[in-house]
Amino acid sequence: MEDSPARAPSGAVGLTYLVAASQILGLAVVTMTGAWMGQYRGGIAWDSSKLQLNVHPLCMVIGMVFLQGDALLVYRVFRNESKRSTKILHGLLHALALVIALVGLIAIFQYHKKQGFPDMYSLHSWCGFLAFGFYFIQWLLGLCFFLFPGASFSLRSRYKPQHVFFGACLFLVSVATALLGILEMLLFKIRDTYSAFAPEGILANLLGLLLVMFGAVVGYVLTRDEWRQPPLAEELALSTDFKTLTEEGSPTSSR
Ligand code: HEM
Repeated sequence: MEDSPARAPSGAVGLTYLVAASQILGLAVVTMTGAWMGQYRGGIAWDSSKLQLNVHPLCMVIGMVFLQGDALLVYRVFRNESKRSTKILHGLLHALALVIALVGLIAIFQYHKKQGFPDMYSLHSWCGFLAFGFYFIQWLLGLCFFLFPGASFSLRSRYKPQHVFFGACLFLVSVATALLGILEMLLFKIRDTYSAFAPEGILANLLGLLLVMFGAVVGYVLTRDEWRQPPLAEELALSTDFKTLTEEGSPTSSR
């Protein structure tokens, strides 16, 4: 009875609500980051002044968190569309995320260089560098294995679980890195008033909570089996072949 048609629509409704919640949370995260930089940090500019530092959080939150999260949701939101179009949309959203994140990284490195500040000393910067580096590698591998026609079907099937696992890991690390970045910014800017519940600190804390909630909703949608895209006929055939092979080859089956 598990697969009875009566249960399917309520499952789909749950998915719709959660995806809507994820978008509201994601947009709130981006808006709040913008409001923080605008209201308390003087806005953004690309002129090597301290306003250039503010480009960094905005771009990183849009690219490494919001767009990366949305790229992961594509396979759940469009699970009844063709695999090819969902794959292309997934790859394009990740590409856009990477470009925007790269702008954010250039902004902070250029700002540090112009101001004579040291690079790559904080835990935030180490996690951020690794997250971006591996995100780029993951995107390149995804492109080679899944979008270019060269890779064989069995090679793709073997790589897919690693791609899914590392994709989820990188998203998690990106959210954690953004949280560390918020802390870094607060320590630089309001070290003396943070403990007195300065309004800027409260705004930044709320931003952190929203980031965690966005990560949790995206993570929940991704890990529910019933919202996965149905496997292709070839994938089913391959897993049946594999099952037959292993069952025929196992000592218990020969008894
Ligand atoms: C996943 C998202 C993020 C990544 C991948 C990331 C990455 C990085 C990297 C690699 C640096 C080192 C730059 C250098 O040494 O010249 C850095 C610096 C910095 N980031 Fe981020 N960042 C992210 C999000 C944020 C957010 C959301 C904020 C603040 C709200 C922030 C605030 C800072 C600050 C203040 C610095 C300068 C101090 C330092 O080097 O740690 N970052 N970030």
